[in-house]
Amino acid sequence: MESRAAVDDAALGREAWAVLDANWTGSATVPAPGLYPHQWNWDSTFVAIGLARWDTRRAGTELLSLLAGQWSNGMVPHIVFRPVRAEAYFPGPSVWRSRDHRSAPNGVGTSGLTQPPLHALALWWIWRYATDRDTATALVRRLYPMLVAQHDYLATVRDLGGGGLAAIVHPWESGMDDSPVWDAPLEAVPPAGTPYRRAESSEGRPGGHQDRYVALALRYRDSGYEAAYLRDEHPFAVEDPMFNGIWLASCQALAELAPVAGADPGPHRVAVERIRAALLERLWADGLFRARDLRGGGLSPVCTIGCFGPLLDRELPADHVAELVGVLESPRFMGAAGYPVPSCEIRAQEFDRSCYWRGPSWVNTNWLLRRAAAVHDLAGLVRVLGASTLRLVRQAGFRECFDPFDGSGRGSRDFSWSAALTLDLLADTVEG
Ligand code: GLC
Repeated sequence: MESRAAVDDAALGREAWAVLDANWTGSATVPAPGLYPHQWNWDSTFVAIGLARWDTRRAGTELLSLLAGQWSNGMVPHIVFRPVRAEAYFPGPSVWRSRDHRSAPNGVGTSGLTQPPLHALALWWIWRYATDRDTATALVRRLYPMLVAQHDYLATVRDLGGGGLAAIVHPWESGMDDSPVWDAPLEAVPPAGTPYRRAESSEGRPGGHQDRYVALALRYRDSGYEAAYLRDEHPFAVEDPMFNGIWLASCQALAELAPVAGADPGPHRVAVERIRAALLERLWADGLFRARDLRGGGLSPVCTIGCFGPLLDRELPADHVAELVGVLESPRFMGAAGYPVPSCEIRAQEFDRSCYWRGPSWVNTNWLLRRAAAVHDLAGLVRVLGASTLRLVRQAGFRECFDPFDGSGRGSRDFSWSAALTLDLLADTVEG
């Protein structure tokens, strides 16, 4: 692999800025040149987090431009399309046809799906580390009602199981698109029958389910993106612990931001309690949180990085924290990987060191776990996760993901969230 072990912190920081500047469109940051030419939802939240300590205004602009794509029902779409080369990415705006939907914004094309609701935590990060306090205050006041609408959407339209959690209705909504957790639920989805043509490199992508991914998107679109269709007919509905763990952490963030916006934090605290109780009741089994398949029934037997999402909850009971950290540090995950944290349990049959979300280590999930370790005062784990993530980018560059055994880069180069979160790690800003 490329060895850049000699790159010092200052040079690494300059390289990270160069990537973010090259991927900046003037109002948003695209995930990577060429491969992902539009604005992606959780990518932008990670970019905003990385920028937060350095440039309040630009971090805020990143979130504002994403939320310009928010639907009037509160849904924040997983892609906001730029007019430039709009169809360069498949599925593009002509597939999603958001403009035909009454809830979608007029001026901008979007997808019809969402992604993990990290936005309120990103806004809290901007607020907490603001270099420009007035701009941060104005930003909180402006974004707060939009984030409340987003959370209301999740709590109503997406509580498909009726137990207090939000269900994802497509693997793309998890952000961990190719995770083996979706293999079984996808079996129930009839393939589209139309050839899948993705205008991007297929390196590291398993490819097996792509036809079903498109089928799911088209079925939802053809229903008119209707809530009743999701509830009664849509063949894919999964309660994912990472998605819901992130949602819970964002509810905690909204509770802290509410007074800044002149609002009552009470409802957010109620939401936190509800989501935690539901996570423990519905997803906890054998020492981990597992995804629940609402259509096929049952909990996923595969353990992945997603199982640790609820660790982001600073009030998760201590015995659950201890069990989760025990598994995370064991040879099932960190203990047998020279370059942690693998996205799938190493001993699982589905583990694949070079396939997207089926084995490689990712900077964003490492960052989330480091944040989780920080809220539970696990100083040693915070240190290890920070140092090992910086070692990855120092050695292999700002790649999309990394081989967990030898640290070599996979997928895109100059990947925005890898660069942005490096800036945050270099500043060592994580606090409990
Ligand atoms: C891939 C990733 C997803 C990310 C997107 C853009 O689809 O799986 O998490 O948001 O690329 O970077």
